[in-house]
Parts: sequence; structure tokens; C-alpha cells
Amino acid sequence: GSPARLLAADAATDPLAPLLVELSRRLAAEPAPSVEDGGVIAEGVDAELDEVRSLARDSKRHILALEERERARTGIPSLKIRYNRVFGYSIEISKANAARVPADYLRRQTLVNAERYVTPEIQALEEKILRAEERQLALERELWVELCRAVAAQAAGLSALGRASARVDVLAAWAELAATRRWARPEILAAGAGIRIGEGRHPMLERVLGADFVPNDTELDPENGQIVLLTGPNMGGKSTYLRQVALIVLMAQAGCFVPAASASLGAVDRIFSRVGASDDLARGESTFMVEMIETANILRFATPRSLVILDEVGRGTATFDGLSLAWAIVEHLHEGPRPLTLFATHYHELTELEALLPRVVNRTMAVKEWEGRILFLRRVVPGSADKSYGLHVARLAGLPETVVGRAEQVLRNLESQEYDPQGRPRLAEGASFPAERPGQMPLFTPAEEIVAKLLRETDLDRVTPLAALNLLASLQDRLK
Ligand SMILES: Nc1ncnc2c1ncn2[C@@H]1O[C@H](COP(=O)(O)OP(=O)(O)O)[C@@H](O)[C@H]1O
Ligand SMILES: [Mg+2]
Repeated sequence: GSPARLLAADAATDPLAPLLVELSRRLAAEPAPSVEDGGVIAEGVDAELDEVRSLARDSKRHILALEERERARTGIPSLKIRYNRVFGYSIEISKANAARVPADYLRRQTLVNAERYVTPEIQALEEKILRAEERQLALERELWVELCRAVAAQAAGLSALGRASARVDVLAAWAELAATRRWARPEILAAGAGIRIGEGRHPMLERVLGADFVPNDTELDPENGQIVLLTGPNMGGKSTYLRQVALIVLMAQAGCFVPAASASLGAVDRIFSRVGASDDLARGESTFMVEMIETANILRFATPRSLVILDEVGRGTATFDGLSLAWAIVEHLHEGPRPLTLFATHYHELTELEALLPRVVNRTMAVKEWEGRILFLRRVVPGSADKSYGLHVARLAGLPETVVGRAEQVLRNLESQEYDPQGRPRLAEGASFPAERPGQMPLFTPAEEIVAKLLRETDLDRVTPLAALNLLASLQDRLK
């Protein structure tokens, strides 16, 4: 409908309607950018303003008429009435026509090629115009201030209106999204009830990929699945999955439908995240510092009601540093604050934690090899990523067989040291599980230590070649 009709319809119920009516009545249809220039207040608002405005307009018409008349009277076709800030209105006549200037012209200004004159009639007109314009500006300023006061008087109502429109805007947008994108209404359970999402999607990526986006389920349970360790190759979809879960929880608690077939969750008290620059290969030492500061914050403030997403924490430093930190962080989250946690990692070793800690479960991004290519299925499945996957990709990428073969040897060497004689992963050794733990493996056997001691204490300057040979033989004996 037309704005005027809408305004009229609202006037009865809306306390701001009278102000709107006043604004549209008093403001010029296209107000000048600055009040100082005039032209802000509409016609018909103030009788005096209308009068001085038409006076100013008329006077300008009078000037034009006067110019015509003086041209005819003097017979000088080039005669012009000029306006100058300092001298006001004047009749300009070129020097060539000086002889034809009438006697009643008063010279006011001399230019290089022309003279400027005034007449009593022009001076009178000028007076009128200036006075009218001055009055017009003064009146407009007054009316403007009045208008501003009227608006200011409704400030409370206006800001309430602003807040209300913002709320309506958000709710309408949510409603539209829910309807057009098949989003589901989440069920909010008591705090601590865990998080269950059926066929969750990432709201932005789903928009980009459409039907190609692969939905995934999520189950975080304080008793049985508090910490989900998500492994999988680069590009598998780990980061996307983490963000998707955090977004769904956030949207659900904000009161929005969520991109999923179903969702039920206990309200969380906070969502902690350590994600982001982890895919940035150009990161330096300082970014690792940031990573650790953020992680420290999470470990300190997370509660059993919190949701924590950790994306490749530890990647910013050397492998063993990073792996050790990641391991200890998972242990801490499990034994300490116990928040619901999604931990994406390329450290395959961490998946050993599933066997050691009751509330840790392993998930991985499914991958298929198909016609010599790697196919990312983007599906979260139980279990952990294939360990030799990196080597596999390297082979597919065309790395020389000698290099890949050698890498396999090195990998076996590394793996052979992963378990202690009791079959427990060595990474698990330490204070966290003192019960069935044998003491830490000493670096050297006692015999090696004795040999080292003897060698250190031998003064080579005082040993004869024969004695040295005897010593060597006895040392060798000790080691047999
Ligand atoms: N569920 C999904 N369905 C379809 N494509 C996905 C999905 N998740 C991720 N992708 C695609 O895979 C790419 C890599 O995902 P990302 O989450 O960064 O993997 P990762 O963190 O495991 O390296 C994304 O840019 C996206 O194009
Ligand atoms: Mg990632």
C-alpha cells in the first residue's frame, strides 16, 4: 500500500505515528544536505517562510527582467547583470560600449575590459533579495531545531522501535531459513544431557555445495562419549564437522532452527574453540603461542556443561612436542573439567586413548581408494584413520618407490617403539596411570652404566697400550 495510507492506518495505535506524519509533512521531499544552505523545510509548513521564499524567487525574476529592459534601453546586446559576493548585483558593460552608458548609471567597479555599474533600482532589488534570503535561512534553522526537538522527545520510543525491528528482522530471517532450507526445530534438554544431532549440516557449506554436502550425525555423551577424537587425512572434512557441530549448538541455543534432520541437546554454558589458523602453513612460533594461550584458557574455564572444539591442537610445533601436548590435553579434559569435546587431530597415536580412557571414542572421516585415486567420502564413521594413509597418498602422488619404501621402514622403526613390554602404548606412561604401570624404562642397562663409568674415569695419559687393550677386553666382557 502507499506509505500515506499505511501511516494513516497506524496513527490510531502507534504512539510514533504522529511524529512520522509530522516528519513527512515538514521535511522537503528532497532536503538539501545541510540546513545552512536552506531548502530543508517543505512548502506549506510556515506561512512566513513561504512568503520570503517567493519574494526571493520573484526578485530574481525581476533582475532578469531588468537585464532585458536595460539591454533594450542602452542598445547594448552584451549587457549583463552580474552577481559578486563583495559588490553584489551590478550591470557589466564592456569598455568598447562605454560611450553608450546612460547618465543614471553609477560606476562601482573597473575591470580590465569592462566596467560595472549599479542603478538605484538594482540596489533596491538587491536589498530585498538579501533580506529575503537571510530571513529564509533564519526561519529554516528555527523550524529545523523545532523538528529535531520533536524527534528527540520520542527518543525512547524510537530506540524501542529500532530494537523491535531488529528482533523482527532476525526472527523473520530465521523463519525463512528454517522453511526454505529444511532446517529442524531443536529440542533443548536439561543441562548436561549431551548432544545428539541427526544428519547435521554446515549451514554455509551446505549452501555452496547443495546436494553434494554430506550430512553427518553427532553424539556427545557425558558418560560414554565425552570426548570424540576425530582422525582423518587432510581435506577429509574434520574442520568442517567441528564447526558444524558448534554452529548447530549455538543456533539452537539462540532460538533458531538448525541445519539437521534432528537435534536434541542439553544447554551448554559455553562453547570453547581452538580452531582457525591451523591450516595456515605460513604460521610461525608466535602463532603457536596464541594456540597455547587459547588452549590454556579452555583448560582453565571449561566445565562439564561446556562444549569444546579443538582443531589440530599441537600442530603448530614440532611433532613430538605437539603430540605430547595433545595427549596430555585430552587426558586433562577427561579427568578434570570433563566438557563435551570434539578433538580433530592428524596424530594417529592419540586414538590409543580410546582403549585407556572410558569416555573417549574414536571417529574418522571415511576415505575410499577408487581407480587409483583417493575419494573423500566426508562421512564420520567409528574407528580411526588408516595409519599408513600418508604414505599411501605419497605413493599415489608419484613419489619415487625408493623414497616411499624407505619411509615405510622408518615408520616400522617408529612403530616398533610405540608399545612397552606390557603392550601398553608408551605415550601413556607416566603419572596419569600409576596403578599397573612398571617404572619408567631406564635409559641404559646397569652394565652399560658401569662401562660408561669406567671409561669416564680412565686417565688415558697414564695407560700403557697393553693395559688399554686389557681394559677394552674387560669392558666388552661386561656387555656380553
Ligand atoms: N560434509 C561435507 N560434505 C561435502 N564436502 C565437504 C564436507 N566437509 C568438508 N567438505 C569439503 O572438504 C574440504 C576440506 O574440509 P576440511 O573440513 O577443511 O577438511 P580437514 O579439516 O579434514 O582438512 C572443504 O573445503 C569442503 O569443500
Ligand atoms: Mg582442518
